[in-house]
Amino acid sequence: MTVLPSGKTYEVPVGTSLLQALLAVGEAIVSKCGGKAECESCHVFVTAGRKSLSKIQRAENEKLDGMVGVSSQSRLACQALLGSEPVTVQLLSST
Ligand code: FES
Repeated sequence: MTVLPSGKTYEVPVGTSLLQALLAVGEAIVSKCGGKAECESCHVFVTAGRKSLSKIQRAENEKLDGMVGVSSQSRLACQALLGSEPVTVQLLSST
């Protein structure tokens, strides 16, 4: 997993959520709802390797639908589980 803007790369076990992985390595990600797809604070852009992540499920999809600033690269980090391929995650400045 490569994280922007820091540009650092980390090895992360398959099946770890992006949120868990980012917290574990000390990157600046906020999780206000504790990973329940309820708060939007863990919104990130996945700029490469999207296909390797777990598919978007209903709760995440509904949340993303109602959010501002969402793009085709958007994921809620707490809902996206890492696969075996490299991914690049761009952190967004959280409010
Ligand atoms: S941590 Fe709240 S939506 Fe992901």
